[in-house]
Amino acid sequence: MRRFRHRPDRACAADEAVVHGLLLDRDVDPRWIERAGWQVLRDAGRVPAADAAPEVFARWLEADGFARDLLGQTQLTLVEIERPLTALRRWLLLERRHGDFPDTAAALIAQAGHHGGTWLFDALEEDALSDAADFAAAYLPPLPGHAAPDHADPVTRAVAAQYAGWPYPVWQRAMRDPPGGLDRLRADHGLAPLADGAHLLVAGCGTGREAQRLATDAPGAQVTGIDLSPTSLAYARERCDAPNLTLCELDLHRAGEVGPFDHIASSGVLHHLADPEAGWAALAAALKPGGTMRVMLYSRFSRMQVRAARARIADLVDRPVTPALVRDVRARFIDEPDHPIVRSVDFHSMGGVHDLLLHAHEDAFDLPRIGRALAALGLDLLQIDLPGRAARDAWLTDHPDDPHLRDLAALHAWEIRNPRLFNGMYPIWCAKRR
Ligand SMILES: C[S@@+](CC[C@H](N)C(=O)[O-])C[C@H]1O[C@@H](n2cnc3c(N)ncnc32)[C@H](O)[C@@H]1O
Repeated sequence: MRRFRHRPDRACAADEAVVHGLLLDRDVDPRWIERAGWQVLRDAGRVPAADAAPEVFARWLEADGFARDLLGQTQLTLVEIERPLTALRRWLLLERRHGDFPDTAAALIAQAGHHGGTWLFDALEEDALSDAADFAAAYLPPLPGHAAPDHADPVTRAVAAQYAGWPYPVWQRAMRDPPGGLDRLRADHGLAPLADGAHLLVAGCGTGREAQRLATDAPGAQVTGIDLSPTSLAYARERCDAPNLTLCELDLHRAGEVGPFDHIASSGVLHHLADPEAGWAALAAALKPGGTMRVMLYSRFSRMQVRAARARIADLVDRPVTPALVRDVRARFIDEPDHPIVRSVDFHSMGGVHDLLLHAHEDAFDLPRIGRALAALGLDLLQIDLPGRAARDAWLTDHPDDPHLRDLAALHAWEIRNPRLFNGMYPIWCAKRR
């Protein structure tokens, strides 16, 4: 399973039955195997050449149930497949052939439900859509937006409005790992397992995937997910089925009102606040002494490539964010399949492009700033995770006495030399002093 996630390029035609089985497995996140699935099809020689006629793609998709399942189960994240399929969709619409290829049309409609309308189209297609009601959802799926309540703070108001438009992140099914992951991490640091009935918080839970995973990891605990965005919470309620999970609309600055907690997780949230340290302090105050916390914070070094990408679309970033603007942003990058922005999963959904390139507010961290915040908040650093075994092995070779990456000064120097070390965010594990 993990090999398909981490090395999709090594999947081959002989893996089809296994990969197809995983794609449909209710306990597996289909995003993890999407790229391996397309690689299986390419290795089997089933994907037509990119410049083949749209009708060739239509005949292939109509006959290939595995390819259609890939489109139906999760969002496509490979522009080299998206582009010919966009041409296919155009042909089906303009030549009025979608009725001749019903399974293909259904797969494109299901795929649009995942990407939310990010695939590019031109004025001719836009005009033709009014006469093709049964195929319009392949272009413009219904928007799920729920109005965001007003907030006094302007940054909170802007961030809430952003996530009211599109839920973020989109997901289909959460990975269901064997329970006990959090307890194993706590044991590594000499901490007792969570007691039955322990209270866990996911602050800024968005569309709920992390909260669902935490609730299945700790089935004896009570997990609360809070977020500002009614749109994301509605999306979360449709998908999360863990009986020990409660979701509610609440600003994380008020987390203490639903605490105290034995563990708090907050991923990709604090750096979107007007004052990230104040938000972090509110979470620390809601944590019991001895409780643990995992926060994921943007690294200003690994966000450099996003800043460079934003510079390329400087004429677009200040406009109101609409579906058409998101498509204009994508059009600037889509011919570069290997660009890191294009390889990012976020490039392939409406909410993802908004979050990645058009965010209302972000204030990225570096490791010295994290060190200062931990000291000020009375939090002890337990560990920082590095993405990927190669980076971890390299760190251990240089720093055999620091397996948990607690020497922030050394890690900072290392990150300056390897600015992409953290793949976007620092995963910080810490505990509140007793
Ligand atoms: C980038 S998304 C991350 C969602 C989720 N944690 C994940 O990793 O999938 C940021 C989320 O933080 C939420 N958020 C931002 N400011 C917040 C606040 N003050 N209180 C609660 N949630 C907030 C947003 O509504 C949004 O859902």
